[in-house]
Amino acid sequence: MRLALYQPDIPQNAGTLLRLAACMGLAADIVEPAGFPVSDRAFRRAGLDYLEKVSVVRHASFAAFEARRRAEGSRLVLLTTRAETSYLDARFAPDDVLMVGRESVGAPPEVHDAAELRVAVPMLPELRSLNVAIAAAMVLSEALRQTGQFPSWPPPA
Ligand SMILES: C[S@@+](CC[C@H](N)C(=O)[O-])C[C@H]1O[C@@H](n2cnc3c(N)ncnc32)[C@H](O)[C@@H]1O
Repeated sequence: MRLALYQPDIPQNAGTLLRLAACMGLAADIVEPAGFPVSDRAFRRAGLDYLEKVSVVRHASFAAFEARRRAEGSRLVLLTTRAETSYLDARFAPDDVLMVGRESVGAPPEVHDAAELRVAVPMLPELRSLNVAIAAAMVLSEALRQTGQFPSWPPPA
């Protein structure tokens, strides 16, 4: 399983997401352009020293990301408030790539079209969306639980 960030806008969220990937033992993808440089102070502060512990592949475009994903044969699962399927009703696979959209505008039509599965975290109807890192953590938790990919606990001595 991988965590993919589509053109992240907010460095604190991107740092938090990469820290989440590091703690779960997942590799991550960033589809560029990001709204900040990787040297950004807020990004590095949110990611702390976890940023050195996560394998991150940066893709110059969504087309470049797609070329690699298709070559690897993994499924693209898009987290979006526009999905008709609740993540609690979805079936996840061990090599899924879970993608989150931009904080400002979500994901564009080409990403929605490419996604084999779109899932939403159910919310009250009058509210717009969750923080991107919170949404990712909730869906990732269920995906890792279903696929038995959580790190073992307690950790080996
Ligand atoms: C702040 S939201 C984007 C809001 C944006 N205005 C829109 O219309 O999509 C940033 C990202 O968080 C994820 N997200 C937030 N709330 C979600 C939810 N309830 N279900 C699934 N994904 C969610 C999605 O990946 C979304 O693209």
